[in-house]
Amino acid sequence: QGTEGANRNNKDGKREKQLNLRTFQGILSKLKLKKYRSRKLTLRDLQRISPESLKDWTAQTLGDLPWYFLRKVMALNGTTRNTSLGHGELEDEAVSEDEEELDMEDDFFSLNDPCTSDSLHPLDVLCAVLLCSDSFLQQEILSRMSMCQFALPLLLPALDTPKGTLMLWAMRDIVKKWRPHSLAESRGFREESLVLTAMPTISFVRLGSCSFSKSKLLNEILSPSQQYHDFFIHRDMESGNLPQEIADGLVEISWYFPNGSKNSDLFPEPIAVTNLHGDIESHQLQFSFLMKVSTLMIIFVERLSEREYALLSSLKEAGTKVYFMLSSEAEKSKDMLGFLKKLVLDLKLSKSHLLFKQSTTNQAQLVKKLRSTIGRITKFPYRRVTMEDMAETARELGIQVDEDCEECQSASKCVKEITAEIKDVAKYKREMLRLQGDLGKTVAKVEKELCRIRKPRTAHLEKYESELKEKLVALHKEKNQWDLTDGLVQFISGIACLS
Ligand SMILES: *[C@@H]1O[C@H](CO)[C@@H](O)[C@H](O)[C@H]1NC(C)=O
Ligand SMILES: *[C@@H]1O[C@H](CO)[C@@H](O)[C@H](O)[C@H]1NC(C)=O
Ligand SMILES: *[C@@H]1O[C@H](CO)[C@@H](O)[C@H](O)[C@H]1NC(C)=O
Repeated sequence: QGTEGANRNNKDGKREKQLNLRTFQGILSKLKLKKYRSRKLTLRDLQRISPESLKDWTAQTLGDLPWYFLRKVMALNGTTRNTSLGHGELEDEAVSEDEEELDMEDDFFSLNDPCTSDSLHPLDVLCAVLLCSDSFLQQEILSRMSMCQFALPLLLPALDTPKGTLMLWAMRDIVKKWRPHSLAESRGFREESLVLTAMPTISFVRLGSCSFSKSKLLNEILSPSQQYHDFFIHRDMESGNLPQEIADGLVEISWYFPNGSKNSDLFPEPIAVTNLHGDIESHQLQFSFLMKVSTLMIIFVERLSEREYALLSSLKEAGTKVYFMLSSEAEKSKDMLGFLKKLVLDLKLSKSHLLFKQSTTNQAQLVKKLRSTIGRITKFPYRRVTMEDMAETARELGIQVDEDCEECQSASKCVKEITAEIKDVAKYKREMLRLQGDLGKTVAKVEKELCRIRKPRTAHLEKYESELKEKLVALHKEKNQWDLTDGLVQFISGIACLS
């Protein structure tokens, strides 16, 4: 019976994969991105200047959405993630009285053909664009999204890889600067590559449905007082209420960095926050990944029956890092209370691990409570992980890491070979970049002097000019006797053989 069950699961898994793939292809063809599945979009595609790229247009068709997104993100514009389709041309047209009747009909037509459901969820567009971009463009997109303070995709759903892709390489370029409270007095700061910074990670997931927006609650937790910001896309945003067709299963990540102000900082140290889209029951791989990397896991539950209980009680080893966020129903249903009690015993939880969100709960108080729960962990030497550690965990679970592709690996190998030689930067420059050193500076000085000689030329100046010219020839001769140094040969062969 066991193997039969496993077989059935396997078959279900396969069917699901095929469904996913079909949905993915459907989205790509809606967005007119199909041709970029094999020939990926590159940074150069975006840097091309054309009348189109200069126009500040709104997206009119689904096919415009990827380009709207890409152009806006390059311009660091806050409206980047708006996937509503505009009907700008219709509005701009001056309508005469005679035409009004006809225009009314047009308007009705566009109402019947509801433009909102015509569009796509912003995260679907984001996933599709990323999966059609080469790794350098991905890096650029994520860096710019980070500058806009948008949450970033950490784990892409399993669409073009069997188990999803962890975006490590895509975040390599991001550098953060902050002032932890330990440096507040000295007014020092830390500046580090984001992927190398160890931080506690707090994950937010849901089991079953959730009647309020988890993403919006997260935004409230991360926003400084009186400066609400949409880090995560939530259902009240433009097109945020549409179903997520391919982004279901996406894990997003965002960060909080303190600026050293004890009064206004929410947390004294950097923290990472991840947000799984979709139900953990259908995304168990993502859930196990998050379980392994998180310092704290907050599970939103509205219904607890035998089925949910079975899944949650299997988290025994995870122990006390699990918190539950229960909705009002939890207290009303007797059944649910029974399962909750069993769960609390099984997982050895204390009262503080149960958080309640009732219809009468004050949202500000709930946010405060969650912040203090998160804040407590930064005070203790709890586990901190870097993105590189997360990648290691992903590999163990069979999740593809973007950086493990051959292209990145061979480039990285080249870089390591070159940089391994650099112990002392000044010395390396002197020896390997000889022509750029003193010799280069002298040449530049002589050339400058030559340019400065003005007419009318006196005999004295003529003599000076020919002296300078002779000097220049001698300098060039000296330059030419040097062969390419090893460092340069390595560098040239590196850039020549890589794509
Ligand atoms: C961002 O894009 C929107 C929509 O095209 C535009 O109206 C707005 O002016 C842009 N904002 C900035 C700061 O350029
Ligand atoms: C989103 O885009 C639509 C269509 O261009 C526009 O009407 C709407 O105002 C935009 N929303 C925001 C919040 O910028
Ligand atoms: C930190 O940020 C807060 C709010 O953004 C600001 O009021 C405060 O002056 C900043 N403090 C420092 C030390 O920069």
